[in-house]
Amino acid sequence: MKAKGERITCATAYDWPGALALEEAGIDLCLVGDSLGMVVLGYESTLPVTVEEMIHHARAVKRGLKRALLVVDMPFMSYQAGPAQALLNAGRILKESGAEAVKLEGGAGIAPSVRALREAGIAVMGHLGLTPQSVHALGGYRIQGRIRAEAKAMLADAKALQAAGAFAVVLEGVPAALAKSLTKALRIPTIGIGAGAACDGQVQVWHDLLGALPQPAPRHARAFASQFPGQVAALKAYADAVRKGSFPAAAETPAP
Ligand code: KIV
Repeated sequence: MKAKGERITCATAYDWPGALALEEAGIDLCLVGDSLGMVVLGYESTLPVTVEEMIHHARAVKRGLKRALLVVDMPFMSYQAGPAQALLNAGRILKESGAEAVKLEGGAGIAPSVRALREAGIAVMGHLGLTPQSVHALGGYRIQGRIRAEAKAMLADAKALQAAGAFAVVLEGVPAALAKSLTKALRIPTIGIGAGAACDGQVQVWHDLLGALPQPAPRHARAFASQFPGQVAALKAYADAVRKGSFPAAAETPAP
């Protein structure tokens, strides 16, 4: 798709109905992101997410997909200890969830793990820039690569991931000009989130796309629907109908 100049569409999903909708909408790539922790499980960051939680949700998503490529995030501390740990956990994720690929955060430092995964036949997506698993080391959820040295290091990281065999790389929270030059410098596609329009594709988090949480979405996101207020209104109407005795009506009641 990169070679043909076709933009790649990617969205996260965390359950079976979400996967059905994503498939129906013709999204190319489905990511079970470890954002799961923050948008579904109510954690304050992605750090507490476990391999078991990722597998549990990815299995549900897989049951709803037909065509979209399924990528699953390797959660914090499931690969940072090195290639042997990465292999064991990526192998588990693929075997137990049915996913086609895994995603890891990091650059040249994780290249040996990316290479080991590729040698074991596991497809790997990289993730650079604002890498949420490193939120504390980064000093918060901040745009990365604004200073020249950071931008240079990010280019080296992106090339290291490509050389190690990554098939694509997510660029999160990266200035648009830097994302554009990384996109030009790489053979593999870049998938942006908060990285401007020049990336080869875009990824967005389900709850941001659909307005499915009460709090406002991050600046880089666009809500294409407003689900949370709709859900609250429907639940209020239901509670109201039960309290008034108008639900269930005769048509919703079993025949005698
Ligand atoms: O966890 C996630 O959903 C992600 C995307 C934001 C790229 O990594």
